[in-house]
Amino acid sequence: MTIPASRLLIGLMCQVTCTWAFARLPEDAELRSAFSVARTSSMEGGPKMVVTFDKEYVNIGGDFDPKAGLFRCRIPGAYYFSFTVGKFPSRDLSVMLMKNRNEVQAIVYDENAGEERKVQSQSAMLQLDFGDTVWLRLHGDPRYAIYSNTGHYTTFNGYLIYPDTYTFQDPKHEDPTPMYGNDANANDHTLTDQDGLGERDNVEKREEVEDKEEDQRSAFSVGRTQSIIGVDQGFTEHRPITFDTDFVNIGADFNVTEGVFTCRIPGAYFFSFNAGKLPHKTLSIKLMKNHLEVQAMIYDDSDTEKALQSQSLMLSLRRGDIVWLYSHQRDGFGAYSNHAKYITFTGFLVYPEIQKPATNQQ
Ligand SMILES: *[C@@H]1O[C@H](CO)[C@@H](O)[C@H](O)[C@H]1NC(C)=O
Repeated sequence: MTIPASRLLIGLMCQVTCTWAFARLPEDAELRSAFSVARTSSMEGGPKMVVTFDKEYVNIGGDFDPKAGLFRCRIPGAYYFSFTVGKFPSRDLSVMLMKNRNEVQAIVYDENAGEERKVQSQSAMLQLDFGDTVWLRLHGDPRYAIYSNTGHYTTFNGYLIYPDTYTFQDPKHEDPTPMYGNDANANDHTLTDQDGLGERDNVEKREEVEDKEEDQRSAFSVGRTQSIIGVDQGFTEHRPITFDTDFVNIGADFNVTEGVFTCRIPGAYFFSFNAGKLPHKTLSIKLMKNHLEVQAMIYDDSDTEKALQSQSLMLSLRRGDIVWLYSHQRDGFGAYSNHAKYITFTGFLVYPEIQKPATNQQ
């Protein structure tokens, strides 16, 4: 592909524009909040019921304290939370999403105290005020326990979807809903004053900023209509799960036939995946980053059940990082799907990385 001269010129103009955009990005940064954490060990019900975490994937804004297991709201607004917990063999499972001291929001429950290990997931969006806390509570009785290991069965994620507008409304501006995406335009006059730009330049700049935002989209959601059956091959082949349906592939960052997402825009991404359980097969699917870096997994070794398992996680990715799913390639393992698509994989950019132009130059 050849690049016309006009494009190069636009590229050059973008250099300038981007610097302006970066100069005001810290304002956007104040309206960011996201965390994604995992637990590498199991936990038994006891007096200390707060589920704590020892692996941190994302903590934008620093609002989550993994050691305390506590998210504390800094930016009032609507937040999406999701969590997955492993069921400990021969124990019951009861984990609640809590707000503040004792307000139950949602629960994951499994009373079947069978031998099997598996995961259960839940998600909810909560409206939070400044200082509100959100945490996970394991039932205090030792009959209850959660399972996890370095494969990360137990994960907890949350991020700000919509900040409450009043907290950052610009009183000089007419727009009643200056969301963070359009915030750049809302403050153009400030930049114009500082930079001594004419109105025409200002309009051009605004278009450039919009172009830039247009580029900063990345989202995929894919499905698979075929089951996966693990077979012994004498060697272990780590091939990604491939897909045959794409619901969404904005930015075309997901290669369906390869089953690989390649990061084009550095930033924090949310991923979720689901898979069906085949009777008499163990379900073991891992979310992988780059070469065999296990991020989180689903697992179900119950025998006859047909069931569905889910997991979600946020990852901080650099350009070129790849993310994929791996189903254990061994006899006795597998995942169920059919035309209705039990197996799905979704990912999208939540917050593009804030770039600091100064660090590149120095
Ligand atoms: C997906 O990857 C394969 C192998 O690398 C490549 O041949 C194919 O063109 C890619 N598909 C898309 C849509 O980029």
